[in-house]
Amino acid sequence: MQQVGKPVTGRDFIGREKELALLMEYMKMGQSVVLIAPRRFGKTSLVLEVLNRLKKQKYYTAFVDVFTNPILDLLSSEITEEVLKNHKLHKQFIAAKNSATALIQNLKLKAVLDDFQFIIGFADNTKNEWDLISESIDFVDAFSKKHNSKMICAYDEFGDIGKFDPKGNLVKLFRSKIQQHTHSTYIFSGSYESVMQNLFISNKSPFYRLARIIHLSYVEKEPLCNYLKKRFTQIKIKITKSYPEQIVEHTMGHPYYTQLAFQQSVLFHTFHGRLPDIDELIVQMLDVEKDYLEKVWEDISNSREYVHTLRAIAENGKNLYKRLKPKKINVARATKKLEGMGFLFRDNIRGWFISDPLFQQWIKKNI
Ligand SMILES: Nc1ncnc2c1ncn2[C@@H]1O[C@H](COP(=O)(O)OP(=O)(O)O)[C@@H](O)[C@H]1O
Ligand SMILES: [Mg+2]
Repeated sequence: MQQVGKPVTGRDFIGREKELALLMEYMKMGQSVVLIAPRRFGKTSLVLEVLNRLKKQKYYTAFVDVFTNPILDLLSSEITEEVLKNHKLHKQFIAAKNSATALIQNLKLKAVLDDFQFIIGFADNTKNEWDLISESIDFVDAFSKKHNSKMICAYDEFGDIGKFDPKGNLVKLFRSKIQQHTHSTYIFSGSYESVMQNLFISNKSPFYRLARIIHLSYVEKEPLCNYLKKRFTQIKIKITKSYPEQIVEHTMGHPYYTQLAFQQSVLFHTFHGRLPDIDELIVQMLDVEKDYLEKVWEDISNSREYVHTLRAIAENGKNLYKRLKPKKINVARATKKLEGMGFLFRDNIRGWFISDPLFQQWIKKNI
């Protein structure tokens, strides 16, 4: 059985045809894009799928995860490595990058080093880390230009960029370089929504108007249901016609929880010889996700305003002002903040609701 939690691509990638088509079109137009959604909504999967498809159409691609690189030198190195991958030179680079001699003596790297001497700087401990990141950011474009190719470069978890320099100079550096790039188009994706909003939507931000913004929501229910039917059939578990629909109804089309629901219902079947009903399934999912949900709660529950607001919305997203009046809560402020952090969505039918369907269940049960 496939592991739940890793990004998915290819045949495992479900739905999102519209988002895929839109992203592909923007990329081909040379229009950079920002992709914003809460954690586990499938940003990384979508980005990787887009890159894979464009790679097949002869685009150069690069995928850089800002979150997994704790220090600036490593980020620079990953950018460079991802660019070199397009010529299958990344392994040579990784093997040689700690020694200037090894780099220079590497025959396969010779042509690249002749054009892009900054790469030797990776072997030099005295080299300024700002010079390296600066050259690496430009390498994305310069390498593509040199080879007459178009580059699609994704910076995943870009909101994390602030950790390298809280003053925001790195963001400014990115902006000033990227806007001059002629052969590269960018996808910036991120989850902590207000950071991403501040980076790209605020008119004070250096990135203002540089990129189109796409908010990623749930996956369409129909392809998810079809996928579940197919998976249950594959492993020869009999289901009622409505079982996949019930699952997707409860996960609201949240891709991670839909995958988790499938996995956990199969597990339940193994131990009990039958499938769980939806309530049993949710209890089991809450148990599996207990640590994660507690941690999420811990991060926000120090604000009494958030606690009351989330608890009220977990029950029902309407008439909040009236219902929270006795608690003397600034509802407008609390909902706006929680929305900015990706916890809340809003629509005409439900009013406010909690974006993470399992977190909603958890709050109802525990708070
Ligand atoms: N389009 C999709 N089709 C099927 N499963 C998906 C899809 N998008 C996300 N998932 C599921 O959700 C999980 C989280 O996806 P990921 O791309 O890592 O999200 P994010 O980057 O937003 O945190 C994946 O492990 C996968 O199980
Ligand atoms: Mg991700």
